[in-house]
Amino acid sequence: MGSDIGIVGLGTMGANLTLNLNSKGFRVSVYNRTGSVLNDFLNKHGKEGIEGSISLSDFCSTLSQPRVIMLMVTAGSAVDAVIQSLLPYLSKDDIIVDGGNSHFKDTQRRYSVLKEKGIRFAGIGISGGEEGALKGPSIMAGCDQDVWDIIGNFFQKIAAKDFEGGPCAARLGSNGAGHFVKTIHNGIEYVILELIAEAYMLLGSSGMNNESIADFFSKSNTGYLHSYLLEIASKVLRKKEGDRYLVDLILDSAEQKGTGLWAAQSSFELGVPAYSIALAPLVRLMSGLKDERKKASSKLEKQKSMIHINREVLTSALLASEIAAYSEGFSILATASKTYDWAMDLSEVARVWQGGCIIRSELLRPIRDALKRNPSRNIMLDDHILSLVALNLQSLKDTVSLASLNSLPIPAFSTALQYIETYSSERLPTNLIQAMRDYFGAHGYKRIDKDGHFHTDWES
Ligand code: 6PG
Repeated sequence: MGSDIGIVGLGTMGANLTLNLNSKGFRVSVYNRTGSVLNDFLNKHGKEGIEGSISLSDFCSTLSQPRVIMLMVTAGSAVDAVIQSLLPYLSKDDIIVDGGNSHFKDTQRRYSVLKEKGIRFAGIGISGGEEGALKGPSIMAGCDQDVWDIIGNFFQKIAAKDFEGGPCAARLGSNGAGHFVKTIHNGIEYVILELIAEAYMLLGSSGMNNESIADFFSKSNTGYLHSYLLEIASKVLRKKEGDRYLVDLILDSAEQKGTGLWAAQSSFELGVPAYSIALAPLVRLMSGLKDERKKASSKLEKQKSMIHINREVLTSALLASEIAAYSEGFSILATASKTYDWAMDLSEVARVWQGGCIIRSELLRPIRDALKRNPSRNIMLDDHILSLVALNLQSLKDTVSLASLNSLPIPAFSTALQYIETYSSERLPTNLIQAMRDYFGAHGYKRIDKDGHFHTDWES
C-alpha cells in the first residue's frame, strides 16, 4: 500500500509536519534535494510509516493515487522548480499542495498552469512556527472543494484546536485564498509585535528592568489580551546569556522576509485603509537605518525624563490597538474576498486563528462572534467590539500623548489611535483636499447638497 501523503523539503517545518502527520497515523513519504538532510532525518526519525526516497521518481512511486504531494520549500522560484521536476512523474488529478509562505498571485498562476496539465493545486497557509508544525498549526487552505475533500482530512487531524475543540484548519476559498489569509495573518503579526515592542520601550522608560517588564507582560496576559505573543514576550525578556539578558545584546534592527509588506501592498491595491498594517513593515525598515538614527539622535535634542506608566492604561491601550489591527486585517480580507470571488467566511478565519497560529488570542473570540453576527460589517461597527474600543480609547490617547511629550516613538500605538479616530469621524477635512485638487488640476468634486460631479473656475 502506498503512502497517504508525500512531503518535499525536510527543513524544520517540513520535518515537523511529517512527524505530526505520522503521529496521527498517516503514512508519509519524504524527499529532500540534499541527500544528507534526508539521511539525517531518517536516521533520527525513520520508523514505520515514514518512507524516504533519494529521487523524485522513487518518491512519486511510493505514493498512493491520486498522489498528494506537499511542498515545504522556500517560497519563490524554488516552488516553481520543484513543480517542474515533479511533473514527469505525476498522473492526471494528482494534487500538489504548496505549504510555504507563497504570494497568493503566484499560487493563482501555478493553479492555472497546472490545471491545464490536469494536475490539481492547493495553496495552504500554515502558521505556528516549528512547534506549531509539530504539535498543531493553524491551517488556511485555498483550493477547489474536490481537492479539500481529499486533503482536508490530513490537515484537520494535524491542526491545533479552536476554542470549542474544533480543528484550526479550513478551506477559506478557492486558489490563492489560503495564502492571502496567511499574508494578512502576518500583516497583523507585524503590528502586534511592534505594539508589544513599543510597550516594552515605554515600560523600560518608566525605570522597569527586564524582569519587571516580563512580570508586567505575564500579568497582562489575561482576558481579551491573553495571547501567544504576549506569553512569549515575557519568556524572551527573562532569557539570560551568562549574567546578561539576551534581549539587551540583540541589535535593534528588525528584519522581514516580505509577507508583512505584501499585506500592506494588498491593502493599497484593494483600496482598504489599513493604517497599522501599512505602517508596521515601514517601522522595521526604519529600524534598519541604525547608523542614520544614531547620527540624527546626536543632533536632535530631545527632552527625556523618567515617565510614569499606569499598568491599566497601557494594557487598555494595547487592547484598543490590537482591535484596530484585527479590524484592518478583516477589512482587507472582506474586500479581497469580493474582488477575487472567494466567498470567504470571515468568522471561519477568526476561528482558524484561535489556535496554533502566531496571532492566536482570546480577542478572536469576540471577533468571531462579531463576524458571525454580521459577516460583511467591519468589526469596529459591531456593538460589542465598539464598546471595547470606547472603553479603552482614552487610555490609548493618554499613552500616545505621554510618549509624544517624552520623545518616545510609538508609531504603532499612534497609528492605531489615528485609525480609530479617523474611522469614527463622520466629517473629515478632505473636502479641502478635493477643492484644492480641483483648483490645480481640474479633478472635479462631489457636493453634499446636490448629486453630480462638479468643477469650479476658482480664480474667477
Ligand atoms: C507563522 C509566521 C511565519 C513567518 C515568520 C517570519 O505564522 O508561523 O508568520 O510564517 O514567516 O513569522 O516572518 P518575518 O521574517 O517576515 O518577520
